[in-house]
Amino acid sequence: MHKIPVGVLGASGYAGRELCGLIARHPDLTLAWAAAHEQRGERMRLPGVGSVAFVAAEEAPLGDAVVVFSALPHGASAAWVARAHAAGAKVVDLSADLRPGHAPTPGCGAVTADAYGLPELERDSVRTASIVANPGCYATAVLLGLLPALANGLVAEDATVSVAAASGVTGAGNAPRRELMFAEVAEDFRPYAVGNHHRHLPEMRAVLERFACPADLVFTPHLLPVARGIIATITLPLAKAVADPQALWRAHYAGECFVAVGDAPPALRDVVHGNVARLFVMALAGVRRPTLVIVSALDNLLKGAAGQAVQNANLLLGLDESAGLTA
Ligand SMILES: NC(=O)c1ccc[n+]([C@@H]2O[C@H](COP(=O)([O-])OP(=O)(O)OC[C@H]3O[C@@H](n4cnc5c(N)ncnc54)[C@H](OP(=O)(O)O)[C@@H]3O)[C@@H](O)[C@H]2O)c1
Repeated sequence: MHKIPVGVLGASGYAGRELCGLIARHPDLTLAWAAAHEQRGERMRLPGVGSVAFVAAEEAPLGDAVVVFSALPHGASAAWVARAHAAGAKVVDLSADLRPGHAPTPGCGAVTADAYGLPELERDSVRTASIVANPGCYATAVLLGLLPALANGLVAEDATVSVAAASGVTGAGNAPRRELMFAEVAEDFRPYAVGNHHRHLPEMRAVLERFACPADLVFTPHLLPVARGIIATITLPLAKAVADPQALWRAHYAGECFVAVGDAPPALRDVVHGNVARLFVMALAGVRRPTLVIVSALDNLLKGAAGQAVQNANLLLGLDESAGLTA
């Protein structure tokens, strides 16, 4: 059967390698080329895939790919998205560069995304887009937790929505950094970007604004000494009490193949190596105003990055949305 050629920029990084693996196992896609930067010219063995040779991004035949995935660092990605688009490819950008709420990259003001690639929020605009901004990993976890509340107008207008989240270290990418060395991370647990400064806040706020939700959002990420996975615990003050929040969340996601609402809080082992975000919701006890706690867990490299990017590419190409992805 004829397979659709796709290319990966940033293929030697954590998200890029995951993409190469998903493409190799995809029934309808084939990897036309894989590009790297410092690791250009090298080969990498990927479990279950065999070995992938990395070309320099400058030498990648961008126009040979029907879809280009850009898994480049933020700031470096927008210019390559513009080049791939000019070469005739559809693009899924995994970086923050083109996400809603982000300032344009200097020199790349003309390139914008046609869709924010959270299929559970805007599936139809992804289907017709030529450039898709894939959401951040934390943003995916938090927004999937919040969407039923936003869609049903449940958030109190004067609310402060508080999120405490933790991610495994692959979330920080594989460029060497002293604070991410094994001995610095192992057997430790610490917050970072404290003070509401994380890069994913603008896209989360942009979605709240879309639902005319004026609540404040406070987001505090933590570094977990594991390779992959995110858990976000969201505290959500309500406009009024909700009788059966679990039923409401389940109804909102009925028919979604990559979001599941469970009857117990998810653990990392429930989500790693799969493309499903797992949610749990219940009313908080012992507080004066009606408040929900929502727990959202996902694999940062799959539903939080490469898996969601393939979900978006499937939509762009008119394929089955779940093709090549496992729950
Ligand atoms: N990791 C996650 O959980 C995650 C989740 C969601 C979104 N994302 C986003 O996905 C993107 C990739 O993340 P990552 O964690 O995979 O990062 P990473 O491990 O640091 O990989 C970055 C990749 O980009 C290449 N690269 C770096 N600078 C470049 C340049 N100037 N020109 C061309 N290629 C360049 C690197 O090549 P060399 O290694 O060969 O130099 C590498 O292949 C980022 O924008 C990140 O924010 C990541």
